[in-house]
Parts: sequence; structure tokens; C-alpha cells
Amino acid sequence: MRFLSIVSLTALFTIGQAATLAPKTPSFVNATIYNPPAGSQTSYARSTFLEVGNTKVIPPVLTTYAGGDHFVIYRSNDGGKSWKSISKAYFTNGNYTGGIILRPFLYELPEDLGEVSAGTVFLSGNAIPGDFSSTNIELYASTDKGRSWSFVSVVAVGGPPNTDNGAPCVWEPFILLHESQLAVYYSDQRDPKHDQKLCHQISTDALSWGPVINDVAYANYTLRPGKITMAQIGNGQWMCSFELALAVDVPYAVHYKLADSPFDFLKAKPIEMKASNTGTIPAAGPFITWPAAGGPDGTIVVSDSSYNQLFINKKNADPDSWIEVASGHGVGYTRSLYVVPGYGEKLVLLFNGGMYGEIDTLVSDGTFTMPGPPAS
Ligand SMILES: *[C@@H]1O[C@H](CO)[C@@H](O)[C@H](O)[C@H]1NC(C)=O
Ligand SMILES: *[C@@H]1O[C@H](CO)[C@@H](O)[C@H](O)[C@H]1NC(C)=O
Ligand SMILES: *[C@@H]1O[C@H](CO)[C@@H](O)[C@H](O)[C@H]1NC(C)=O
Repeated sequence: MRFLSIVSLTALFTIGQAATLAPKTPSFVNATIYNPPAGSQTSYARSTFLEVGNTKVIPPVLTTYAGGDHFVIYRSNDGGKSWKSISKAYFTNGNYTGGIILRPFLYELPEDLGEVSAGTVFLSGNAIPGDFSSTNIELYASTDKGRSWSFVSVVAVGGPPNTDNGAPCVWEPFILLHESQLAVYYSDQRDPKHDQKLCHQISTDALSWGPVINDVAYANYTLRPGKITMAQIGNGQWMCSFELALAVDVPYAVHYKLADSPFDFLKAKPIEMKASNTGTIPAAGPFITWPAAGGPDGTIVVSDSSYNQLFINKKNADPDSWIEVASGHGVGYTRSLYVVPGYGEKLVLLFNGGMYGEIDTLVSDGTFTMPGPPAS
């Protein structure tokens, strides 16, 4: 009896004390989203925050990963610390039973697009049927925050999955709404001028798609840029990052381009990323985000697939101002990064789906706290 009352007094005291403190950023080291059965593999975790706008609370976040013939969608209501699976997204436009769906991408539509309401969650991926006869970048949507999914449209179709020169397949979608137009970016091996190039197609209704517009296409056929991601940075420009498979300095060296519009990267000069403090050239599967924290121009944060470190830049991607910093997280194949809304953009959620091709992987997430002052 006596012991119990001491416990409840302690609890009261803790609650009273917490209420008088300023809200703390909800950082945490490592949470497990999915631990697959022994012998199986996962990779390529991708996420989206929902209902961003009310930054007094952490908005819910959805995540998924590649690992079979459908995507399992998980939801967290506490900023990524705990997760519940809420649905299985099957791609219903083709027969993908026994096949595989690679490279998911989740994106909550921030404004209305044609008949599609703001708040709709898009899901893309590269669907490959059981007989491996084609690659299909398709778009699905959820109007109930990821609980159910339906087919929307096919963005791009290519030949069988095959990274050999001349094999005409498609890979790795990335979704962005910009100036009332929805763009799906992807890697394209169908153009005979390029082993692989990066391009996008635009839609004003998510149903019909415009022509292929090139974003990164090297005159040298074999160089093979891949895995484009992008963000708007502190000076208003757009930065895209990608890997360059046959780069001279380091295989898959991360490169980037800067442009005034995310629809106009083609003519921009590619720059190889190199940390000025260590000389490290990050390599493979980059992912970029831009929190406004860290200084007047915010901070560009880039993850790759070769290092557990992150690469940050507070000077609008100035080539001599990349700094390699400890991430506090393990290495992973195309980890992804999302700014946690609110908290002065001091917090980035990092998702790790495991290393490509390895078994006994784990889908996990954790926070990275931005160095420097919060966004004003
Ligand atoms: C779908 O594909 C699988 C694997 O290739 C095959 O076994 C199955 O018969 C197909 N189903 C239909 C309805 O065609
Ligand atoms: C094209 O790139 C490859 C791979 O880096 C290189 O070996 C080759 O010399 C380049 N070709 C030309 C014409 O620059
Ligand atoms: C996260 O924690 C799990 C155990 O829950 C561990 O296996 C994994 O290595 C950790 N990952 C990182 C990146 O620290």
C-alpha cells in the first residue's frame, strides 16, 4: 500500500514537471517497423507524412518497403516510434501474383489535382509479373489514408527487368507535385541513345501522361545515371541527386544538378558530390531532403547506400561545402529521409529497409537531429 502510493506520487510529479517544460523534439534512435522471417529480404523503405499543416502535433506517417508481390503499408501516430500494418497494396492492373513489386514511392497530394482531392495518398512502384516479361511503373491511390488502394494509371512500361545495355526496361519512380502538375520521375533504359537516363512525365489529372522529358541523359552512352530524388533548397532552386554507375572516381558516385524548376534539369551541369572535411565521395542510391533548420539557407541532407554517415550542405549545394557527419544510423540500400513537420525542422526521419540482395534484413527508422539553430 505504502509502496503503491509512492509510485503514484512519482508519476504525478513526472507529469506535472513535463507540462511545465517546452515541447521536446521527439527524437529516438531506432525503431523496428518490420522484421521479416529468417531467410527473407526487404529493401527500399519509402514514406510520407499525412495531413501536414497542423504542426502542433506530429502528423501521422505511412511507410512501406519492397519485399514481395505487394506492398505492406505501415502507419505510425507517434512520429515513427511505433508502427502498425494497416493494409496490403496489391497492384491490380496486371497479374503480378508470384512476381515482385520493386521501388515503392509514397506521396500525399498537397493540393487538388483535377478530380483528385488534396490528401489523396499516391503509391507507385515497379511491378514485374511472375514470368518477368515486363517492368511497369504504375500509380495507385488511397482516399482513406492508406487503408485501401485502387489503380489509377500506368505511367511507363518497359521490357523485362535487366540492367544490361540495350535492355529496354524502366525503374525507380519518384513522385512530385509542382505548379499544379503531377510528375513521375524514373530511370529509363528504353532510349537507344542512353544505356539509362533519368526522365519524367507530367499529368494534370493523374490519368493521362505527357511525353517523356529528359532530366539527366549523358552523351556517353554507358555512364548510367540512376535513382533520382529531389528537393527545393534554401535559395529556391531545385536540387536533384542521382548515382552515376560508371563514374570515374568511384563507382556509383553521387552526382547532383541544380535548376530553377524541377521540370528543367536537363541542361544543368552534373556535379560530383565530395565531402570537403573528409574527401569522401558518397556512392549509390542517394536520397535528398531539405530541412529549413541549420542556418539562413537551411541544410541539404543527403543519404547514400555506402556509408552510415550523411552529407550536409548549408550553402545551397555549393560544391566545396559538403560536410560528412555521423548519422547515428546503420548503412542501408537507398535509405530515405523526411523532414518531421514542426519542431523548427530540427528533426529528420531516416528509414532503412536493409541492404539490397541481403537476407535477414530489417525495416527500421530513427531520427537525425539537425546541427545548428531551428528554422525561424
Ligand atoms: C498469374 O501469374 C502467375 C505466375 O506467373 C500464374 O501462376 C497464374 O496462373 C497467373 N494467373 C492468371 C489468372 O493468369
Ligand atoms: C564513357 O564512360 C566510360 C565509363 O566511365 C569511359 O570508360 C569512357 O572512356 C567514356 N567514353 C568517352 C567517349 O568519353
Ligand atoms: C535497430 O535495432 C535493431 C534491433 O531492434 C537492430 O537489429 C538494428 O541493427 C538497429 N539498426 C540500426 C541502424 O541501428
